[in-house]
Parts: sequence; C-alpha cells; structure tokens
Amino acid sequence: MCGIVGYVGEKDAKSVLLSGLKKLEYRGYDSCGIGTIVGGKFLVNKNTNRIDSLEEEVKETPTSKIGVGHTRWATHGGATVENAHPHVSNNKKVLVVHNGIIENYARLREMLKAKGYKFYSDTDTEVIPNLIDLYNKGDFMQAVKKAMDMLEGSFALGIINLDDPNTLVAAKRNSPLIVGIGDAESFIASDFSAILKYTDKISILENDEYAVLKNGGVYFYDSELNPCGKDFKFIDMKDEATEKNGYAHFMLKEINENTITIKNTVSEYIKDDEIVFDLKLTEEDIKNINQIHIVACGTAMHAGLNGKNIIETLTRIPVNVEVASEFRYKNPILKENDLVIFISQSGETADTVACLELVKERGIKYMSMVNVKESTIDRMSENVIYTKAGPEIAVASTKAYVAQVCLIDLFAIYLAKILKTADKKYLKQLTYELKTMHAAVQTVLEHPEVYAEYGKSIASELDMFYLGRGLDYYVALEGSLKLKEISYIHSEACQFGELKHGPIALIEEGTNVIAICTSKKLLGKVVSNIKEVKARGAKVLLITNQTQVPHEVYDERMEIPHIDELLSPILTVIPLQLIAYYATVEKGLDVDKPRNLAKSVTVE
Ligand code: F6R
Repeated sequence: MCGIVGYVGEKDAKSVLLSGLKKLEYRGYDSCGIGTIVGGKFLVNKNTNRIDSLEEEVKETPTSKIGVGHTRWATHGGATVENAHPHVSNNKKVLVVHNGIIENYARLREMLKAKGYKFYSDTDTEVIPNLIDLYNKGDFMQAVKKAMDMLEGSFALGIINLDDPNTLVAAKRNSPLIVGIGDAESFIASDFSAILKYTDKISILENDEYAVLKNGGVYFYDSELNPCGKDFKFIDMKDEATEKNGYAHFMLKEINENTITIKNTVSEYIKDDEIVFDLKLTEEDIKNINQIHIVACGTAMHAGLNGKNIIETLTRIPVNVEVASEFRYKNPILKENDLVIFISQSGETADTVACLELVKERGIKYMSMVNVKESTIDRMSENVIYTKAGPEIAVASTKAYVAQVCLIDLFAIYLAKILKTADKKYLKQLTYELKTMHAAVQTVLEHPEVYAEYGKSIASELDMFYLGRGLDYYVALEGSLKLKEISYIHSEACQFGELKHGPIALIEEGTNVIAICTSKKLLGKVVSNIKEVKARGAKVLLITNQTQVPHEVYDERMEIPHIDELLSPILTVIPLQLIAYYATVEKGLDVDKPRNLAKSVTVE
C-alpha cells in the first residue's frame, strides 16, 4: 500500500526521499512523487513509472532542505500523474502526502467546491491541502487540527507549507506513521525501512497526535495541540537486512532464509528443551479456554489453518479460523472463555487490526503473533509472541509463513503440555523436531535446480491444481496462492476428497496437478485419488515423504525429509514457494512486486 517518507535537515532532501521511496517499493505502488521547497515555491515531480525513473527525472533539479515523498497504490482514481501524490492546495501554499482513505471526501469536496475550490485529481487526498488552506487564518497548526477534525477514515499525513518553509507537520489516524531523529535532521516514514539508512532512533505517532519537525528537532502535540513528551527508542534492525545480498530477488533470498528464520523463532521460545512464552495468560486461563479463534488474512490465515489442525489434535480445544475481513462484519460469536489469536506479518493489516479492536472492546482474551515489532498490532496487544523472520520485503510472503507455522506449532505444544492432553514423550519429540527443523529445511533447499526445472515447465500453463488432505490441503492452499499472486497462473487448491464433488470436471489431458502427501494414515486414500486424476490425463507432481506410493501414479516426485506429520507443512511448503518463484522468473515477471498487490494492506 502507499508509502510516505519526509525529511527536514541539511542533506539534499530529494536524495533522502528517493532512497526512502526505494525502500518502500516493496509495499506495492503504481505511481510515485516527491515535493520539496525551492526558492520559496514547491517543486513537485510525479510519475507513473518506477522510482528509478522519478530519480532520473529529478537528477538536475535544485537541492532543498525539506520535502516529502510518496508511493501510491491507487484507491480513489486511476494510476495517473494527476492522481499521484503530493497534492497541493489551490493557492499552491500547502502540500500533502497521504496514506489511507478519507471516507467522507466526497462531502468535503462538495463543501470546498461551493467555496470556490477547484480540483484537478480524482483522489480523496486533494481535499486535505484545501481544507487546511480554508482554515488557515495565521495559525497553521490550528488549521491542520481543524482539517483533521473534519476527516473521517484512516490516514497518515505529511504536510509542508510555504508560510513556514522549514517545518514539516505529520499527523495520523489508524494508519502507521513513525518519526525518526538523527544528527540535526528529522524524518517521517510509513515504516522503519525507509529511514533506517539514516537513523535507528524512532518514535511512533499515535492516533490524533501531531509531530512538528523543524530545526533538527521534533515537537509532539496531543489531539488538542497541547505539547506532549514522547520517547524515542532505538530499533533493532540493520539497513542491510533490507538488501538483496547477492540474490537475484528478495523472494529467493527470503526462501533461503527459511532456515535461519526457523532457528531464530524456535530458539527464542525453547529454553532447556522447554517451551517458554512470556504471556499474561495464566495456566488457569489456559485451562478454562472454551474455544480458540484464529483471525488473519491471506498467507497468515493459511498459517492459522495449520494452527487449527495441530491445536485441535494436541489439545482437543475447538479452533475456528476466520478471514479478518469476514470476522469483523459478522457479529462473531465470542464467549467469555474464548481466546482469539491474531496472526500478522506486518502487524498493520487493516482488517486484522479492526478485528483486534472489536475483540478488545468485547473484553475477550486475545493474543497476537506478529513479525514486525512496534507495529500497530504489536502495540495494541498485551500478549504478543514474535515470529523472528526479520524484514520480509518480497510482496509474496514466504519465510514469514514458515515462521508463523513454527510459532503456532510451538504454541500448540505449549498448550498441550499445560492441559496434559497429549503424551509427554510425544510433546518432547515434537519439540525436538522443531529444534532441529532448520537442518531438514536446509536439505529441501539444497537442490534448487529441481524446482527451477519444474517451475520452467509450468510457466506457460494457464491452470494448475494443488491437491491434499488435512494439513497437506492447507499447504496446497498456500502453494496455490503463491503461484497465482506472482506468476498470474490461475491455480486452485482442492481437498482430494472433494474432487469428485465437482472440480474433477476440470481435469483433462495434460492438466498439471501438484499432489501433496505426508500422511501415512491417509496414504491409501490419496493414492486412489491421484489415480483418479491420472486416469483423466493429469500430469502429476507428487511432493511426499512416504515411500509406499506406486511410481505409476505420478509423473514426477519431490522428496521431503521424514518428520512428524503434524509439523510437515514447514517442509512441504518450501518446494511450492520455489516452484512459484521459478515459474515467475521464467515468465520474466517482477517476482518481488507483483501487479495490483501491496505488502502491507493498510486499507480495507
Ligand atoms: C501473500 C501475502 C498476503 C499476506 C496478507 C496478510 O503472499 O503476503 O496474503 O499474508 O496480506 O498480511 P499480514 O500477515 O501482514 O497481516
């Protein structure tokens, strides 16, 4: 989704802004722009190409000490230069970049039009600089506050103003914005990565707070414009973590980081062979859990499905997995002793955040599993456990999914131990297998040529099927999502048992099917199902760790190491991630930045 970066200081603002925007590219965008102040006027450059071409465009423009930049992911109005940010007021005195959505913009636009304001774009954003201008009677901050009071929706704003050309104002409501401070310079950004190159000292703006950046300092104000002290803290992340480090793409780098991700996530929570979580959920709370609800979106929701399987198997507590965008609008049935678990890589997904607010309001116990520390979900949750995946830059989630599955596996074992619902020895064995899982993952990663060859072979296909039962089906869902989101090959995941109830009608000569099988118990059934698709001409790739599958039922086979069935998704997903990656590379598409998608979905 959209990204914001802003700068005030002695460096050339445009180079800081461009470097920040490049770091924000991963969030997904379809146009970009920067605005600086030069010779008492705004200098605005915008385009609908990549940041590189914006950089080329501003190569010869004069330097400036202040500016804001933006990557836009179109919501109101198409991806055009007019709609790209920054947006400027009619009198050319107020300039704004904006993330999020102004829900009442149509009404505000009519009100402004009635007062003579004209609009050049289709955006909701353009009302903001004009509203500020309308209310500006000499006290700029009062004007910003008045405009803020009029706005409905979620937004983060970076504002500069020609009457005070050395000052940058930031404000936000329900959309993330951080403030960074360096040596006589200050920054705003929608996420840390944009400014990490310059500073690791940051403060997070809360809803309806204001930050005023000037003279190398930052001044914070509350919603009533009373000065309020806010702490800066050091963020534990290195700029290099957001670089490709020699890999052709972030996605490939991140798939290869699955090993270290697992190691870091597991070692964070296994101490002396015991799983330890620092949670405010007491043993009593856990013993009283009536039902668990897992709420997330996309890949994180798929990790939640794995969680359902392992938690139900080990604890017999019923688990309901819900897509956040559905959960929030369905008046969910939540009872006193239920526990809601939110899973999110970014910690910023708008629907997941909204569900958390709903659950909090209802007074139901909840906890969160997030990757990004200090993200909105992290800060809103008393009980948080972290996936230790490090920054994930490729839009398609890979290592974060693996970390989410590991973490939820650890949590399931932890619950079962407290509840005494599974054999102690078995829980120990599962814990040990998770501890050594990184080595098994390494063996799957060792022969990339196998996945590359298969990926190439399907690159020109129009349709794919991913089939499995139980946990294998949940992984099939994730494999299918990975393929469609980056290679644009249509794919569908289906439970083997459901084939006969409809989808098998689509299987014909040459249809590509990826069959996943890690369950000894279900092996016989799965073999019969594969025979059914084979008999209709399907080309079958089997991903398995079972030795008893007759070779005539598949065309190709990829082996994964033996592991307890409950933990198998951590291994089976890796070939699927690599297949999606190599098919996309073969098609010559932008692997890390697929069309229409954003890394952090901060609007509904
Ligand atoms: C797909 C993908 C998305 C995210 C989803 C939730 O590869 O990355 O489906 O999983 O947008 O994002 P988070 O986990 O940040 O809440």
